[in-house]
Amino acid sequence: MSETSPIRSPATPRPTSGAPRYAHVIGWGSYAPAQVLTNADLERMVDTSDEWIVSRTGIRERRVAAAHETTASMAAVASLRAIRTAGIEPDDIDVILLATLTPDYWMPSTAALVKEAIGNTRAAAMDVAAACSGFVYGYATGQAYIASGMARNVLVIGAETLTRFLDYSDRNTCILFGDGAGAVVLGAADTPGGGLGIEMTTEPEGAYMIWLPAGGAKRPPSAETIARGEHFVRMEGKETYRFATRTLASTALAAIDRAGLKSSDIDLFIPHQANIRIIEAVAKGLSLPMDRMFVNLDKYGNTSAASVPIALAEAVNQGRVKVGDRIVIVAFGAGFTSGAVAIEWTADPERGRAGDAAVTPADVHVRLPVDWDSVDPIPDALAAVMGRPVAPGVDVPLDDVVPGEPEHARRDRKTEIRV
Ligand SMILES: CC(C)(COP(=O)(O)OP(=O)(O)OC[C@H]1O[C@@H](n2cnc3c(N)ncnc32)[C@H](O)[C@@H]1OP(=O)(O)O)[C@@H](O)C(=O)NCCC(=O)NCCS
Repeated sequence: MSETSPIRSPATPRPTSGAPRYAHVIGWGSYAPAQVLTNADLERMVDTSDEWIVSRTGIRERRVAAAHETTASMAAVASLRAIRTAGIEPDDIDVILLATLTPDYWMPSTAALVKEAIGNTRAAAMDVAAACSGFVYGYATGQAYIASGMARNVLVIGAETLTRFLDYSDRNTCILFGDGAGAVVLGAADTPGGGLGIEMTTEPEGAYMIWLPAGGAKRPPSAETIARGEHFVRMEGKETYRFATRTLASTALAAIDRAGLKSSDIDLFIPHQANIRIIEAVAKGLSLPMDRMFVNLDKYGNTSAASVPIALAEAVNQGRVKVGDRIVIVAFGAGFTSGAVAIEWTADPERGRAGDAAVTPADVHVRLPVDWDSVDPIPDALAAVMGRPVAPGVDVPLDDVVPGEPEHARRDRKTEIRV
C-alpha cells in the first residue's frame, strides 16, 4: 500500500514498526463571515434585551453568512488556512472529516464539496453528525485513523450556517446561535504529543432536548412542516443547561484522567462556546480560575460544531497556547453528546497568523450545479441586517448571488445595499 494513498487500499495492511503513532495538531484556521448580528438587532425582532442576553448568556453579537456563503464555502476557507498553517499541500490530506448539523445538502456530504473546493484530489471525505460535539468527535476519529496507520494527515472541520435554521420569532433560540467555521490538520508523528486522552459520551434520553423536527425521514419536508416551523431548531433550554453543566466538567476530567494528568496540569481549556454561565460552572466544578477557560462567545455566539475549532485557532493566534502546553477541547450538544480531548501542543503558534493571512474567501470556489434554480437563502427577518455595509477592509461581495437566484431577489438586495 502506497504511503500517499492509504485510504484507497484498506484491505492491504500498512506495514508498521510497532511503534505508537501520534496525531499532532500541525495546522489550524478559522473563518467567520463579516456581517454582524447584534443584540440590538435582535431587540428589534423579538421581545428581548441586550441586558437579558448578556447576563443570561454572555453573548453580545454573532456572525451571519452572506447569501453567497454556505457551510461548505466557510469550511473551505478555514480548511485552506489550516493547510497553509501546516505548511503542506491540499493533496497531502488523506481524510476529510466535516462536523456539521447544517450541511449544504442532505447529499452529497459537505466534506465532499470542501474536498473539491480546496483542491484535494485524493482524500476520503465524510460528514460527522454529533451536533455541537461534532468537531471533538471528528478530532477523535481523525486521531484514530492516524493511530491505526490508515492516514497520515487528517483535516478535521467544524462548520455551520445556523442562521438559516433559526426561527427569528423564537427568543429562546434565535439569540444564541451564529455562523462560522474552524479546522485543524492532524499529522502523524513518531514523537509523543498531540491528543493524549479522549472521552466521548452519548445520552439518548436527551434526544429531543435540542432537535430539528422536520426534513428527515421521520417528517419529510412538506408545506405542512414548513407552515408549522418544524424546519427550525427547537430547544428545551433549562434541560440542556442542566446537562451541559453536569457533563462538561466530567467529560473533560475523564479525558484528562486518560492522559494521566490532573485538571491543574491543564494550561488552557477550550470549551464549547454556548453560554458564559456554563463555562463558569465548569471552571468552578474543576476548581480552576476563569483565566484557564478560553472565551470568545461574546463575539460569535454558539456556532455549534464550529465553536471549538474557531476558539482553538483564536486562542493559539492570540498567544494563549505555547509549545509544550496541555490544553483540553471539550464540547456538549444535541444527542445528548459530549466529548473532550486532552492535547499536548507541539506546533509553533506563530504559524497560525501567516496561515490565516495566506487565504481569503475569494480563494475558494464551491462548485454549484449548472441547471439549478435557487431561492434567496437569507431569512426575511435578517434581510435588513444583511443589507448593511460590513466593516471596512472586509472583502464581502454583498451583491453576490447564488446562480439561478430569481431576478427580483437580486434586485431587492441591490436596493437594500444602496440604502
Ligand atoms: C436558553 C437559556 C439562556 C435561558 O436562560 P434561563 O436562565 O434558563 O432562562 P429561562 O428559560 O428560565 O427563562 C427565564 C425567563 O426569561 C424569559 N426569556 C427567555 N428567553 C428570553 C430572551 N431571549 N429575552 C428575554 N427574556 C427571555 C423566559 O420566558 C422566562 O420568563 P418567565 O420567567 O416570565 O417565564 C439557558 O437555559 C441556556 O443557555 N440553556 C442552554 C442552551 C444551550 O446551550 N444550547 C445549545 C446547546 S449546544
